[in-house]
Amino acid sequence: MPRDGVARRAYPLICMDSTKLRFFAPCPQGLEGVLEQELHELGVPLTTKTDGGIAFLAPWATMYWVNLKSHLASRVLWDVGHASYLSEDDIYRAAYSLSWPDWFTSAQTIKVKVSARRCPLPSLDFLTLRIKDAVCDKFMAVRHKRPNVDTHHPHIRIDAFLDESTVTFYLDTSGDPLFKRGHRVLSVEAPLRENLAAGLLRLAGWTPQEVLLDPMCGSGTIPLEAALMGRKIAPGQSRGFGFERLIIHDPKRWGYLREASRVKQLTTLPTAIYASDYDPAAVKIAQRIFQGAGVGIDLRLRQSDVLDVEAPAAHGVIMLNPPYGVRLSTPEALDDFYPKLGDWLKQRFSGWRAYIFTGDLRVPKLIGLAPSRRIPLFNGPLECRLYEFLIVPGSMRKLTAVPDRPD
Ligand SMILES: C[S@@+](CC[C@H](N)C(=O)[O-])C[C@H]1O[C@@H](n2cnc3c(N)ncnc32)[C@H](O)[C@@H]1O
Repeated sequence: MPRDGVARRAYPLICMDSTKLRFFAPCPQGLEGVLEQELHELGVPLTTKTDGGIAFLAPWATMYWVNLKSHLASRVLWDVGHASYLSEDDIYRAAYSLSWPDWFTSAQTIKVKVSARRCPLPSLDFLTLRIKDAVCDKFMAVRHKRPNVDTHHPHIRIDAFLDESTVTFYLDTSGDPLFKRGHRVLSVEAPLRENLAAGLLRLAGWTPQEVLLDPMCGSGTIPLEAALMGRKIAPGQSRGFGFERLIIHDPKRWGYLREASRVKQLTTLPTAIYASDYDPAAVKIAQRIFQGAGVGIDLRLRQSDVLDVEAPAAHGVIMLNPPYGVRLSTPEALDDFYPKLGDWLKQRFSGWRAYIFTGDLRVPKLIGLAPSRRIPLFNGPLECRLYEFLIVPGSMRKLTAVPDRPD
């Protein structure tokens, strides 16, 4: 028996090689377009964009590849069945009809999570219980033994999503969410999630050939994602995945894919990535995280006030994630800070593309620059913008008011 204690049944090989299965990759709201683009680059042509993620059709092994390589997906969910419903009993019956004992064993623990949009039924908690009962009853009928529930560290995560008339069941192939790369040992206050940081770089059109500067780097999430992209290090290279616990998991194929990705890693970055923060504790944490991820020598990290930083090249991309005035600062302090930041950009970064990711929609007005793009995004529940400013000679011109409006 394999070391994880899962007895594997021979599963038709066609499932691994050519049969197209249905998956759904959720992502932070606003990143759907760039996630779809990333999936195409990862060899997944059959995609459908929805609010909050991308549905795709792909063979089983492609799901391994997406889990391993995607910088932007939050998870990869395997769509194992759907049905229309009118009542809780319909949902119980739909869950009971699925072949759960073919996918995992009764010795493994489970957690059921239900989410819904426009679902007419009154209680998602009750539905969670009904689905859990259906799964356990199916096990009792087929294997005479039922799995236990573990809501904290389950072996198997079952998701159900309900719209107004259809329930869809998923097995979570990721396990821990994919933004947990396994590098973050310590954290600063308000770090970005890794997939959101990677999404900001994508939306900015940054490529590893361009110099990158993050002068308010905190724990360094943005430069770290950039370094992983630049060195072609798969974000999932050093973590485990939910699919490793499924009966149909093919450890040989998985090992082959992981190795195929590892040998493509570059030993150096194509160009320089600079990071700094004025807080010495943040710089220390960033340094430890960079070292843990194996990119410590790639990143030029130092402690500095942002306003003392000089442009390290004639052009490049500067990405800023300043405090918003929600948790880390006060609106009054930011009123004073942003005009200085605007002058600093105009005076020292002519020829650069600057991006500010913030929940403070007064930013364009306060820094006195007109954004060339304003991209609505969510950082968790917080509505934010990614503002793009093209710093051209002559952008010293002061703007009086730049009203913000969603695109
Ligand atoms: C929202 S946090 C950045 C979080 C970061 N993106 C991450 O994922 O960890 C804002 C950062 O700006 C830094 N900061 C605030 N004022 C600064 C200044 N004047 N110069 C440099 N860094 C500053 C703070 O120390 C904090 O780490």
